[in-house]
Amino acid sequence: MVTLVAVRTKPTYTIHIEPALFDQTMLTPAIKPRQICIFSDPTVFGIYGSKLAAVLQSSYHCPVESHLIESGETNKNLVSVAYAYNHLADLRFERGDLMVALGGGVIGDLAGFVAATYLRGVPYVQVPTTLLAQVDSSVGGKTGVDHPLGKNLIGAFYQPRAVWIDPHVLRTLPLNQRRAGLAEVVKYGVIADQAFFEFLENQVAVLRRDVIRDEDWPVWNEVIARCCQIKADVVASDEKEITGHRAILNFGHTFGHAFETVTRYSSLLHGEAVAAGMRAAGRMACALGLWSAQEVDRVEQLLDALELKVALPPLEPSAVLDAMRSDKKVRAGKLHMVLPQAIGKVCVTSDFKKEDVLTAMRSLAETKV
Ligand code: NAD
Ligand code: GLY
Repeated sequence: MVTLVAVRTKPTYTIHIEPALFDQTMLTPAIKPRQICIFSDPTVFGIYGSKLAAVLQSSYHCPVESHLIESGETNKNLVSVAYAYNHLADLRFERGDLMVALGGGVIGDLAGFVAATYLRGVPYVQVPTTLLAQVDSSVGGKTGVDHPLGKNLIGAFYQPRAVWIDPHVLRTLPLNQRRAGLAEVVKYGVIADQAFFEFLENQVAVLRRDVIRDEDWPVWNEVIARCCQIKADVVASDEKEITGHRAILNFGHTFGHAFETVTRYSSLLHGEAVAAGMRAAGRMACALGLWSAQEVDRVEQLLDALELKVALPPLEPSAVLDAMRSDKKVRAGKLHMVLPQAIGKVCVTSDFKKEDVLTAMRSLAETKV
């Protein structure tokens, strides 16, 4: 089964979702590279690298090089970017050549940033291999790296030429990573699509299974396709986050990024931080009278059922607030938050007080979330 989703940005590109995609020819229109460089990490490249390189070689009839970056958020920084520039310069990479990002969001964000900036832009394609990357980070052209003062502080909007998704790669993805990816999946239901949220509630038994069964693939395909469609629609309506509509994709992320920053990206997976962040934002919306307690519970029940519960390490509230001040959603010195009003509807607001943020955060510390 093939699903194609168009992302109507400038330029428009296609998300190609197809099981066993790596067994086929992968061609991106209008690109005739003299050479290709696959960016990946040693784990992912060890499993899929040679297969992808062979497919690319037979599709484009040109040499396929590779550039590996150690996995983990702590390597998503300017040092790794500098190594990548050195390698591309050694390869004499040209503007007509092609970069391919094979991996999770760390590789996709970093490779995309290198592609955006090397020679003022070389074409790149995303081949996402984590659930999070398949449903979120590979689509929409947000590229970048972290700075000690904040996550993703350095970056560029730079759209890939295509996104190739093979859901079957989720078979080798560690269970905790697959679970963490489900946080972004739940996010789409809450921000934009009540029917999709209900679909997730109905498919909990499949989604929480430790090992994916053959009969589960239609559900995973549907999850990936629906998330990609929602993201593509939001991105097309506000490609560079100018009107503010795209910011709804950051539901749970203001708290989540701050949790990641103060724990130095070492104890929480991104999706786990986002799940905790969605709970905090939901509770804050409820305390502000924007959202019903009943729907807050409903969302938390789905997160619980998907085992998206983490014990947050002790966090110093002032440190979390400081981290939030470096958030990209600070405008004119004011922090903006994405807060739900109903399942399927959120608003972006700065109409709250520091104490509202602290109260929501303290409520998380009282329970395992
Ligand atoms: P990740 O990239 O760190 O990958 C997680 C781990 O899974 C890595 O160790 C990797 O080696 C391994 N792995 C990946 N695919 C595998 C597979 N199929 N089989 C076996 N192992 C595999 O984590 P992530 O959750 O994919 O990405 C998190 C990053 O994404 C964060 O840096 C976050 O900021 C970013 N992000 C970006 C956007 C965006 O729009 N650009 C959106 C959301 C998140
Ligand atoms: N992940 C948020 C965005 O792409 O805008």
